[in-house]
Amino acid sequence: MNLILLGPPGVGKGTQAKLLIDRFGIPQISTGDILRAAVKDLTPMGVKAKGFMDAGALVPDEVVIGIVEERLAQPDCQKGFILDGFPRTVPQADALGKVLSGMGKQIDHVVSLSVDKDELLKRLTGRRACSKCGAGYHVDFAPSKVAGVCDACGGDLFQREDDKEATILNRLAVYEAQTAPLISYYGAAGVLRSVDGLGTVDGVQAEILAVLQGAR
Ligand code: AP5
Ligand code: MG
Repeated sequence: MNLILLGPPGVGKGTQAKLLIDRFGIPQISTGDILRAAVKDLTPMGVKAKGFMDAGALVPDEVVIGIVEERLAQPDCQKGFILDGFPRTVPQADALGKVLSGMGKQIDHVVSLSVDKDELLKRLTGRRACSKCGAGYHVDFAPSKVAGVCDACGGDLFQREDDKEATILNRLAVYEAQTAPLISYYGAAGVLRSVDGLGTVDGVQAEILAVLQGAR
């Protein structure tokens, strides 16, 4: 199954993708995670991307298209994949379509998640992640047992650089201007499945599984 998770910053794309990996045995491709790893490792791509990411702006299309094209060619994507945070512009969506058709593949479902802006702000300002294993937390909605310490591996929890309120507001504006048009783009292609992102993590997952199975 070839899947895209579409939606604004903080809506729960990463949280839901992690559950879908286990369910379907297909990998998550998060361009945000790949870029953050490149920034941490100080690779040439990371050095180039850092300024855009810290400002809450999009990294240039050609950079992210190259990342995804390379990743989709890996053997673990044979059975399918979950794209999280890509595509984010119409040129990225066009490029993805070309790459996939060159491989004899297509997108099966675009799950479009939505919640209101106040909820997005709460989710993003309270988000924490483990610096060692990457597990995700929220100070109010999904806290670790010991504040600042990962339940799974004991690693330190950190707040993402772009989860400061001013940067969050810019990311939300960038989403509206550049990414929201993909809702009608994929609607016209007949692959859009809309899901309410409000509710418990498990409740939203159940809704996603229902739309993927055509039960709703
Ligand atoms: P990226 O990493 O993709 O960030 P994003 O799209 O802004 O999305 P987030 O990761 O912030 O949110 P999410 O939807 O994954 O939410 P999560 O599950 O964590 O991109 C970062 C940057 O990289 C971009 O700004 C850009 O610079 C660059 N970039 C990346 N891709 C690019 C591309 N294609 N083109 C150009 N540039 C690109 O959940 C958030 C919080 O809410 C967590 O704390 C979680 O625990 C909590 N939560 C989740 N679900 C629930 C729930 N149901 N109830 C209560 N809390 C919940
Ligand atoms: Mg994410």
